[in-house]
Amino acid sequence: MDRIRIVGGNALNGIIPISGAKNAALPLMIASLLTSDTLTLENVPHLADVEGLIRILGNHGVDIAVNGRREHQDGSYSRTVHFTCRTVADTTAPYELVSKMRASFWVIGPLLAREGQARVSLPGGCAIGTRPVDLFIEGLTALGAEMEIDGGYINAKAPKGGLIGARYTFPKVSVGATHVMLMAASLARGTTVIGNAAREPEVVDLANCLNAMGAKISGAGTSTITIEGVTSLSGARHRVLPDRIETGTYAMAVAMTGGDVTLSGTDISLLDTAIEAIRRAGAEVSAVDGGIRVIGHGDAIRPVDIVTEPFPGFPTDLQAQFMGLMTRANGISHVTETIFENRFMHVQELARLGAKITLSGQTARIEGVTRLRGAPVMATDLRASVSLVIGGLAAEGETMVSRVYHLDRGFERLEEKLTRCGAIVERISD
Ligand code: UD1
Repeated sequence: MDRIRIVGGNALNGIIPISGAKNAALPLMIASLLTSDTLTLENVPHLADVEGLIRILGNHGVDIAVNGRREHQDGSYSRTVHFTCRTVADTTAPYELVSKMRASFWVIGPLLAREGQARVSLPGGCAIGTRPVDLFIEGLTALGAEMEIDGGYINAKAPKGGLIGARYTFPKVSVGATHVMLMAASLARGTTVIGNAAREPEVVDLANCLNAMGAKISGAGTSTITIEGVTSLSGARHRVLPDRIETGTYAMAVAMTGGDVTLSGTDISLLDTAIEAIRRAGAEVSAVDGGIRVIGHGDAIRPVDIVTEPFPGFPTDLQAQFMGLMTRANGISHVTETIFENRFMHVQELARLGAKITLSGQTARIEGVTRLRGAPVMATDLRASVSLVIGGLAAEGETMVSRVYHLDRGFERLEEKLTRCGAIVERISD
C-alpha cells in the first residue's frame, strides 16, 4: 500500500493548477445514462473515484473513450472523455460496485427515468456518518415511482408512461438527492418544482450540462429549481467546473506554510465563505487573471471560528483542512460540523503531530501551538487525509501518511503539484 512521506518546513511558492471538480464530474458522467447520444466532458480529473465510476457505467452499457492528456505550461493537463450509452445494458447496480463509491447510487435517477426501472444497492462510501437515502426515496416517490427496499437493494419502478412531474420540497438539503431529482425530472412528464434544493456550484454545473443536452431547467443555484420535462435528451459537450475543494485545500496549505502561490484554472467566486475565513486567518487572497493568488505568512495565523453549512456556507469538505490550519493559530478557535455526524476522525491524527484539540459534541476546540512535529499518521477518509498532508507540510521533520488511497480518490497528482512549489513530498510504494 502506498504511503506519502513529507518533510515539513518549506514555504510553498509557484503555480498549482487546479483540476476539474470530482464532485461535478461524477454526476455529469452519470447524466450520460440519460441519452443514446454521446456526452463529451472536458477537464475530467484523473482520480480513483472517476475511474471507479467509469467501470460502473461500463456495466450499464456506456461506451467510454478517453482522449489523451494535453500538457500545459503550468503543469496542468486536462482529459476529455466521451460517454455513449446507445442502449442500457443493465438496470441493476450491484453491491460490489455501489459499496465502493456512494455517488454511484445516483444512477438510480437516470435509469428510472430512461428505462422505467432500476435495482440499485444501498450505498457505502466514506465512513463519515450514517448517510441514509430517505431523501432519494421520498423525492422519486413524489415523481410517481414505486420504491421498495429488498435485501439491501432499492427496487424502483416508474408508472406506466414514465415519471410524472410534481412539486417536492426536501426536508433537508442534500446535494446527491438534488442531482438525482434533476436527472429524473428532466425526462418526466410535466413540470417538477424542487424546494429546498442544494445550491452547490456542482448542482449548477449539472443543470447547465443537462440544459445543453436539451433539458429545461431553471433556478439552479437557488433553493427552488423548476424542471419542465422533455421526451428525450441529446448529446452535448461540457467542461467540468474547477474543483473548489482542491482550491481551498491548497489555499489553506499556503496560509499554513507561508509563501506565494497562484492557483490556476480556478475561480474565487466558487468558495467565497472559505476564502473569507482564510483571509481572516491572515493570508492574502486575491483574484488574478485565470485563478487566485494566495500569500501566506506562516507563523502569523489568527484564530477563526467556522461552522460548516450547505452552500453558500463553509463547506464540510474543507473542515478538516481548516482545522489543520487552526492548529498553528495564535489562540483558540472552534470548528463546528453540522453536515455529517462523524467527521472528526482527523482530530486524533492531527494530535499525533502535536495539535491540541478537544471535542465536545459537534464542536472542536483548537488551541493553537507554536509548532507541529512530524509523525506517522493514518488517512481515515478523503478530506481528513489531506488535512494531515497540510499538517505535515507545516510540521518540523518527517511525516509519513499511510492509507493514501483515500487521497487518490479526490486529489489529482498531489505530490507533483506540491513538489513543483518547493515542498518535499514523495510517494513510497511498498
Ligand atoms: C456530497 C459530496 C460530498 C459533500 C456533501 C455535502 C459528492 C460526490 N459528494 O455528498 O463530498 O461532503 O455533498 O456537501 O458530491 N442525507 C439524508 N438523507 C438522504 C441523503 C442525505 O439524511 O437521503 C444527509 C446526509 O447524511 C448528510 C446531509 O444529508 O448529513 C448532506 O448530505 P448530501 O448533501 O446528500 O451529501 P452527498 O450528496 O452524499
